Amino acid sequence: MRILLLGSGGREHALAWKLNQSVWTNPLYIAPGNPGTALCGKNVPLDIKDFEAIGKFCYLESIDMIVVGPEEPLANGLYDYFKADKELQKIYFVGPSGKGAQLEASKSFAKAFMQRHKIPTAAYKEFIIEEYEKGVEYLQQHTLPIVIKADGLAAGKGVAICQNHVEAIAEFELMLYHNKFGEASKKVVVEEYLDGIEFSIFVLTDGENYVILPEAKDYKRVGVGDKGMNTGGMGAVSPLPFITPGLMYKVEERIIKPTINGLRKEKIDYTGFIYFGLINVKGEPYVIEYNCRLGDPEAQVVLPRLENDIVGLFIAATQKELDKVKIRIDPRAAATVVAVSRGYPTGYQTGYEITGLNEKYGKQTLIFHAGTREEEGKILTNGGRVLCVTSYGENLKEAVLSSLEVLEYINYEGIYYRDDIGYEFI
Ligand code: AMP
Ligand code: GLY
Repeated sequence: MRILLLGSGGREHALAWKLNQSVWTNPLYIAPGNPGTALCGKNVPLDIKDFEAIGKFCYLESIDMIVVGPEEPLANGLYDYFKADKELQKIYFVGPSGKGAQLEASKSFAKAFMQRHKIPTAAYKEFIIEEYEKGVEYLQQHTLPIVIKADGLAAGKGVAICQNHVEAIAEFELMLYHNKFGEASKKVVVEEYLDGIEFSIFVLTDGENYVILPEAKDYKRVGVGDKGMNTGGMGAVSPLPFITPGLMYKVEERIIKPTINGLRKEKIDYTGFIYFGLINVKGEPYVIEYNCRLGDPEAQVVLPRLENDIVGLFIAATQKELDKVKIRIDPRAAATVVAVSRGYPTGYQTGYEITGLNEKYGKQTLIFHAGTREEEGKILTNGGRVLCVTSYGENLKEAVLSSLEVLEYINYEGIYYRDDIGYEFI
């Protein structure tokens, strides 16, 4: 199969690595990719916002399957663009329709969807600018802490957890009145705070059936001990010791099945991943958020633990045959530690040479590129999150220690990573 993967981060390097192992893949293109994905296939310089260019490439290169890594092209309707074209509609498309991607792209859509299908989530109310006064009144009598969310996509930054009413009203005003997140905060969701342990469950669905992939937890805060600012993710681990069969049963019955059935009942086209961002409140699972894609850096531990041929899974998904598939999971633990640029997530410099990438590390370690670029044969830093070092281990401790050991040998100006990924489980 001639496959095109869209995206350029650590998640896409992990996807490219997995796609490249498939017996079906020949060849693999990645657009735009990074120096890591170039080791798994051929990078092509396409802009993932440019649907016409993507369509033209697929047509000219007789692409059989397209796999979309990030949410943006999905939320902007890439699936619908392909389905509206007589030739492009024949291509196996892994990713939901624009309507399906609203589960991630609009918190208001996702909350209303969960209410319609009785899926457990935090109680909420939403406000637009015309309801500003009403919103302030609502906040004044709300129990603390208060969670305030921009409705739209805000690169993971659109959520504020406010410890007092003054802070909450200020944030509400910034989002709604001063357009803190532009279009994304034209509507604001105010939510009850849920106290518990977060975890992520990934499902691949064909719109009717689904398979559950290995679970993961990511570490969003920049500092050791979960302190400091939120980031795209500083590390991830899988499996999670606290996920018992009883908890998983509740997740499946109360959350996964009603979500898939809800999509089907509402005739929303959905072939692809659903990322359930969940929280375990005293043994009861609630949905914090949906994403319409794999997580980053969660994919860097989920995909290494998935034993199935991923193209086989994608074919089954596009043929609505996921009920015939059985997921096989590597029993080993996996951990990924993300090396970032000093100053991330606020300001940082790029363009520093990365050394130590070509040492002979053991088979237990995989190095996934995130923000890197190649110049004259050298690999340079090119973003906030630079590399994800994933290792397998008999347990999480062994996996994390292997990644940290490898990171001792990797260097660039301003390298920083958390050395406590998975700390609660070690
Ligand atoms: P989201 O973008 O919706 O995933 O929110 C970002 C982060 O904010 C989540 O990963 C949680 O840590 C936190 N969060 C969001 N909603 C809630 C909530 N209702 N209660 C507690 N924490 C929340
Ligand atoms: N790691 C969180 C996300 O991918 O949204």
